[in-house]
Amino acid sequence: MFEQLKILPADPILGLNQTFQQDANADKINLSVGVYQNAKGATPIFTAVKKAEQALLNSQSTKAYAPQAGDPAFIEHISNLLLGNDLVASLGDRLAAVMTPGGCGALRMNAELLVQASANTTVWVSNPTWANHFPLLQSAGLTLKTYDYYSADTHGVDFAAMVESLNAIPKGDVVLLHGCCHNPTGADLTQPQWDTVIDILAERELVPFIDVAYQGFGDSLVDDAYGLRQAALRCPEVLVASSCSKNFGVYRERTGAALVITATASQTAAAKSQILSAARRCYSMSPSHGGSIVGHLLSSESLTSEWKAELEQVRSRMNRLRLGLATGLNDAQSKIDFGFVAESKGMFCYLGIPQSDVLTLRSEFGIYLLESTRINVAGLSEQNLPVIVDRVADVITR
Ligand SMILES: Cc1ncc(COP(=O)(O)O)c(C=O)c1O
Repeated sequence: MFEQLKILPADPILGLNQTFQQDANADKINLSVGVYQNAKGATPIFTAVKKAEQALLNSQSTKAYAPQAGDPAFIEHISNLLLGNDLVASLGDRLAAVMTPGGCGALRMNAELLVQASANTTVWVSNPTWANHFPLLQSAGLTLKTYDYYSADTHGVDFAAMVESLNAIPKGDVVLLHGCCHNPTGADLTQPQWDTVIDILAERELVPFIDVAYQGFGDSLVDDAYGLRQAALRCPEVLVASSCSKNFGVYRERTGAALVITATASQTAAAKSQILSAARRCYSMSPSHGGSIVGHLLSSESLTSEWKAELEQVRSRMNRLRLGLATGLNDAQSKIDFGFVAESKGMFCYLGIPQSDVLTLRSEFGIYLLESTRINVAGLSEQNLPVIVDRVADVITR
């Protein structure tokens, strides 16, 4: 049966991480994979998360199946965190949420829903977008096309081109937007730009599908949800794929939520039943541990404020490192103005150096970034920053 199978190439990001693990260079530095690291290079568990988990372990008396749609406390609180309590209340039964295995599970379940709603759905993604959007959504049966988003010349959003692209998308198509902290570029829309984008979506009857994997990593939990909340206020139909992997640091617990807003309560009930049916035929039920941790944490005022304070520390540390990289590189050379690095949001940004320099950094110095030049800002540290600045400046000025 399996004689014909070929070994597939590794996923570009996970594969590069494997190459990094095998690299014998003692001074190697990994800026490729999207995981937060503290000054010691560790990915610690948030104290508030650990406390919530401990409370859960103490109180849990069964491992029987949990509700298929997810822990009710998780569903209630994650919806409020994303949309804000007032909007959740005003949407009422037009909104439904289902717990999923991570943000990937949420993307996939919403993709399954779209395919059931219409066999020929096209989803438009930004150029560039997170590489995994393609296999995740296409293998569900969706057609993917790209809209203009990023300019390599300005190292920022090419908003005029984006608007032109969006205005050419046929009515009824779906537009996938990164809620904040655009992966891979770190170039986000400003609030006025979001307003314009939502105007176009609403006017052209396009359906926003918002991927929120980094809420709280950009400006704040509330600011990072601006575009999402405006879409939910102004568009009759919205899909959301939310991930708790990064902002709660529960990566391996596979915790996320698929949210659906439709024009009526009965359409939402139908959409939710379609998501649950898709989950049943794919994996039946989500893992429940991560959702119960997040649900417990967000049900407690004291744990919530402790978590928010920890998240704030993570965000400001990434901002310090980002600024350190920008100023360090600008002090060390004058060929490229890296000011844009300081402006980027979240965990990632493009460094915008030639691809050949990316390969030289890897082979000569064991510094790993993606060939697109994407770096994980959280892979920088107070200790490795001067080394990285020195090596990057060296390679680009040769
Ligand atoms: C843009 C984006 N969406 C979704 C995800 C999904 O995250 P997870 O499935 O690990 O929760 C990620 C993770 O890297 C991401 O960067």
